[in-house]
Parts: sequence; C-alpha cells; structure tokens
Amino acid sequence: MTRIIGKETSRVDGVAKVTGKAKYAAEFQVPDLAYGFIVLGTIAKGTITAMDTREAEASPGVLRVLTHLNAPRLGPKQSTEEAPPTARRERDKSFRALQSDQIFFNAQPVALVVAETYEQARHAARLVRVTYREEPHHTDTETAQGRARPPSQGRPQTPRGDPDTALRDAEVKVVAEYHIPIEHHNPMEPHASIAVWQGDRLTVFDKTQTVFTVRTHLASGFGIPEANVSVVSPFVGGAFGSSLRPHYHPALTAMAAREIRRPVKVVLTRRQMYTAHGYRPHTVQRIALGADRAGRLSAMIHEAVHNTSSFEEFSDDTTGFTRQVYACPNLSAPLRVTQTDLPTPTWMRAPGAVSGMFALESAMDELSYALRMDPLALRLANYAETDPESGKPFSSKALRECYRLGAEKFGWKDRNPEPRSMRDGRLLVGWGMATGVWGAMQMPATARITFRADGTAHVASGTSDIGPGTYTVMTMIAAEYLGLNLEQVEFELGDTRFPQAPSQGGSWTTSSVGSAVYGAALAVTGRLLALANRDTSSPLRGAAAADVEMLEGRLRLKADPSRSVSIAEVMRRNDLAEITETYESKPSPERDKYALLAHGAQFVEVKVDPDLGTVRVTRAIEVTACGKIINPKASHSQEIGGVVWGIGMALQEATEIDHRYGRIMNPNLQHYHVPVNADVHMIETLFVEEDDTIVNPLGVKGMGELGMVGIPAAIANAVFHATGKRIRELPITPDKLL
Ligand code: MOS
Repeated sequence: MTRIIGKETSRVDGVAKVTGKAKYAAEFQVPDLAYGFIVLGTIAKGTITAMDTREAEASPGVLRVLTHLNAPRLGPKQSTEEAPPTARRERDKSFRALQSDQIFFNAQPVALVVAETYEQARHAARLVRVTYREEPHHTDTETAQGRARPPSQGRPQTPRGDPDTALRDAEVKVVAEYHIPIEHHNPMEPHASIAVWQGDRLTVFDKTQTVFTVRTHLASGFGIPEANVSVVSPFVGGAFGSSLRPHYHPALTAMAAREIRRPVKVVLTRRQMYTAHGYRPHTVQRIALGADRAGRLSAMIHEAVHNTSSFEEFSDDTTGFTRQVYACPNLSAPLRVTQTDLPTPTWMRAPGAVSGMFALESAMDELSYALRMDPLALRLANYAETDPESGKPFSSKALRECYRLGAEKFGWKDRNPEPRSMRDGRLLVGWGMATGVWGAMQMPATARITFRADGTAHVASGTSDIGPGTYTVMTMIAAEYLGLNLEQVEFELGDTRFPQAPSQGGSWTTSSVGSAVYGAALAVTGRLLALANRDTSSPLRGAAAADVEMLEGRLRLKADPSRSVSIAEVMRRNDLAEITETYESKPSPERDKYALLAHGAQFVEVKVDPDLGTVRVTRAIEVTACGKIINPKASHSQEIGGVVWGIGMALQEATEIDHRYGRIMNPNLQHYHVPVNADVHMIETLFVEEDDTIVNPLGVKGMGELGMVGIPAAIANAVFHATGKRIRELPITPDKLL
C-alpha cells in the first residue's frame, strides 16, 4: 500500500503559479538590462542585397542594430537533439539567426534591434529597411508531394508480408486520402531568453523543455566550455514540443548581450513565434485497408508525406504506430518528407501518432461501414494480442478493458449505425469512436536527494515541468519512498546545475526522472541501513535494503515494522546532519523482450447544426491504460487536455499560408482558432490501471500525449455518423458540412 502515490494531489507549485511567485524566463530581474526586438523578413526565399539601419540606429534609446553584416558568426553546431530515437539526427542543421544573407522562409529574423527599453527597440525595429533579391519559392506541401523522399533516419520502412496482393484479393476494401494542415503550438507563455555574460561565463534564462541541450547549443555556438554556461528554466507556461529544441532566440539573445556588453532580454511576439519554434507539419496520407467479410484485416497500406524545410530534415513518424496497433499480416507504412520554403517543423503534442491515427482510425470507420459492422466490433476483431510488428508480448495491454468500459459509460450499444438517424430536436447527433496509442518510453535520468536529520529532503533533477505536474509527481515519489510528507520535500528542476535529465517530451518524464528519484530514495534508505547496522545491536542487522522502508522517522523492516531504528538517532550517532545520494536510472534490458505501449479508447458525441454546419463535441469519454497512475488529479487534467487538443485539431486549428508570398496569414490567436470554454462540454476521463513490472520500477507509461491521439478521428467519425459526410481534410469547419 502506498501512502501518497495514487492519491489525488493538488499541485505543489499551484499557489506559486497563481500568485506570480513562479518566475518564467522573461520575468527574471537582471540589473542593467537592455531589450532586443526581432525584425522579420518579408520574402519567402532569396538573398538580402542591402540593409539600411541608419534611421533605426538614430532612433532614441537604440544601442545596436545587429544584422548578418555585423553579427558575430556562431561556431559549428553539435547535435543538440534530445528527441525520440526515431527522429534523432547526427548533424544539427537547425536555423540560426543573422548568420548569412540567405532567406529560407518568410518572417525569418533579419535583424535584432537592441535598446534601453522594449518600446524603443520595437519602434526602431520598424525603421530597419531591407532590400532583397527574390527567388521563386514553394510553400505548398500538396503540390510539393512529387519531390518527397524517405527520411534519412527513422523506423525501418520494410513492408510486412505482401500487402499489395492481399489488398487485391481482399473481400472488402477501403481506399482514401486524408489531409492535415500545418498546426502551430500556441503556449500561453511566449518564447523568451535573457542572456547575461560575466567574462566568458554565460547565464541564460530560457523557456525550454530541456536546459541541457540549450547549454550544449550555446557552448558550441560561442566556443566556450559547457561548464561556462548556465541555463535556468524553472517554470514553463506550456510548450508541448515547441521548446524541445533550442531555437534561434537564445543564441541571438546571447550574441547581442556579448556585443553590447550588457544583459539582453528578447521576448517573442505571438507573430514571431509562428516562424521561430516549429509546427506540426502539413501531412497527406493515403490509406488502403483490405479485410474479409468478418472484418479481419488482411492488408494495411498507410502512406504518409509531410513537409520539412529546405535546409533541414524533420520526420514525424506519422505511420509508426500503424505497424503495431492491429493484428494484420500484410502491411506497408512508408513515410516520405518533402522540402518546402518554410521553417523546419517540429514535434507537436502526440507528434506523428495523432496525425497517423486520424487517418487510420477514420479509414477503420469507413471500413466498418463498408462491412456493415459496428466500429468497435471491427477493432475487437483485429485486436493485437501480441505486437504484430515484432511478435513480442506486450508488457501489459488493457485496451480491451478500455473499449469495454468506454462503451458502457458512453452507452455505445444504443447507437443506431445509420448516418443521420439520431437527432436532438433539429440538431443531428453523431457518435464516433477511435483507438489511441502512445509509447512507454524511458530515457536515462539522474536525480539527487539530500536527506536531512531534521526529516526534510531536497530533491533535484534538471528536468522540466511544462505543465503536466512534474514538480508534484516527483515530490510525491520522493515523499513516498523517503517516508516523509509532501511538505517535508522540496523538489527543484530546470537548471543545468542539477543532475542530468532528458527533455520533457515524449511523455517519458515520470518513467525516466521518476525512476531516478525512486532510485535515489532507495539509495538513501540503503545508506541509512548501512549506518544503522554499524551498531552491532541494530534490530535491522542482516536485513537487505530492499527489505526495509523509511516511515515516520524510522527505518523499519517491511515484514515486521516492530524491528526499527530512529533515523535521526542513526544520523546523530554518525555525526551526520544530512546525507546526499545521486542515482542514475536507465531503462532495464528486460524492456527489450517486450512491446511497450500505452493505449486508449475514445467515444465522442457531436451535435451538428444542419443549417449552419457547426459542430459541437457534446460528450467525450476517454479511457486510457497507461500503467500506474501516480497522481490521479493531474492525470485526469492531462487526459482532459488531450481531448481539448483533439477538439482543436478536429474542428478548428489550421495555419493558413498565402502561397503567393509563402507567408503565414493567421499568426495570432484571433485568426488561429483553438478551443475556448464555449467549445468544450462534457469530458470524462477514466483509467484502467495496469500492473506493469516491466516498463520501469514505478510501472508508469506515457500518458500526456496519449490523451489526444484518437480524438480527431473519433470526432470525424461522429461527424460522419451525424451527417453522412466523410470529411477527410482537417479541420472540419462548417463550410465542409454545407
Ligand atoms: Mo511533447 S511533443 O513535448 O507534447
């Protein structure tokens, strides 16, 4: 039995966040600060032929105008990727600002104006005149598909069996094409950096999902040892992939600070963010499914193409989960990428998975209609009992129970499968479902615990908390295994002074950093036991570390709590005020023998106005199986957030590009629509806990991204059920339903 793990726990940083005590990157107070404002270019491709900065330089308060003509050159880049292994690259070709006269994308930074105040810098930025030589550009992924190539790295793309023959011979088939536009992360907190030089030592306050790669990026860029660079990022106001890589702004800010020999702050505007931090790529997918009359899949062909930039390859692993989600002997799931004159895309919440599963789970719904079979029954007919890709058993997989529970809670059995058959007054009612899937990844991570004789502990790991509740969950894990209360534990993160941790991405933080905190707590326990047993009369003599636990100030035998010693006394006897243990956790080799996935089942109801074409998601039941739930309160929030993301992707989000200019036309929250309260109705999230002893010592799997994965397809399927219209191009806006 656990005391703290598994109990609804409010955020330990909640009060700090709502009272302004929590400091975000741009809020650090630094004396003698100057302000930088970025000037964006206005063409999509070409060369800068002239820069006239005289008027800007003469403007009040301006300290310097940096352009490619006077900006220092940054040193060679080391790979700073800390990303899913499928997307890791050897060479970092990411964009860096002001390094040449070349223009790679519209709204590329072409100058930085630094002034005494933000307003002075922003005003003077408008006075910089840039002349270009334009070249023809291509920003439309739809028309650039012909140039698509397989990514240089990623999952193997070898087909399984003979999908073409199996498809040809299938009794029932579905062939369809699906389109997803570019979507942009819109975190509440804008990306920002403050850079402070002291000699050749650099401190950067940054918004990032990993302080360590920002440090590597800056050290190699400025040719200084990593030990000279400090990156600080204790709070992040949302990121969800937009801060996984170091983008151009920290190096640009540090460059300016070094040039003017003063600390500089650069905060991006919402518009500037749209070409600064990446985006979900524009994705085109063709799916062909073949099945027998009983609905058993005999062929799956899932081809995806998405865009990347002209200077760097990004691949989203769009089709990866297709290989594992249903039992099917014949499969082909190639991914290709095509160059466009746009910034490089990046990971955005449930990257690849949500795009791929939108297409696959829409196609499965189409197949269910072709078969005249219930969509849930079709999924069950193709349930993968073992991993169809590797043949390995799953470490745990409670998807069947997710389907059962979700269908029961939703009332799925009352569904009339006929499109347009269900109504609520004049509104068309539709019910749709889909499967969600995500990984159970784990990365090496290190945590340090300082346990004090007064019964308090300081725990640190250089991870990040972009909002899921990492401060809280790590405090819970430490408190649980150190036998303390939450108030007795202080957990710190987001600083390169702390032990190494992976980026917060891939939904792997609790499995990685949580395992490190757990391991460090066990190391503290083991150390105390060894100290206690120096005393020949210790009642714990002969006990192994695994047999004892810390609780209520005592170290005690789990099997017989009456055999115990006072921790404070042991420490006093050994003249210790505190002990510190650092522990690095690594994925266990045992994991390699299994397929490791988290799953979910989503059921949604939509109501569609037949005259206006507006869609409301009136009910969503999401059931997820992602191992053990450490903090149900934060976990429900994660899954609710996933559903809301899914509503945005299904119904609202699209980055609009005017291809004549290669320019994003809606880089703001007025015209880029995300769900607001009025768009979100009843959402119920449920967990089917899995007792998984393979994935990691805590038994946790990825859950943050999982919550989104099936939702866009479930909504599109519900829209079909409501209206009889199959919309294969997101977002499902009213015009497509009229
Ligand atoms: Mo993750 S792509 O950082 O939400």
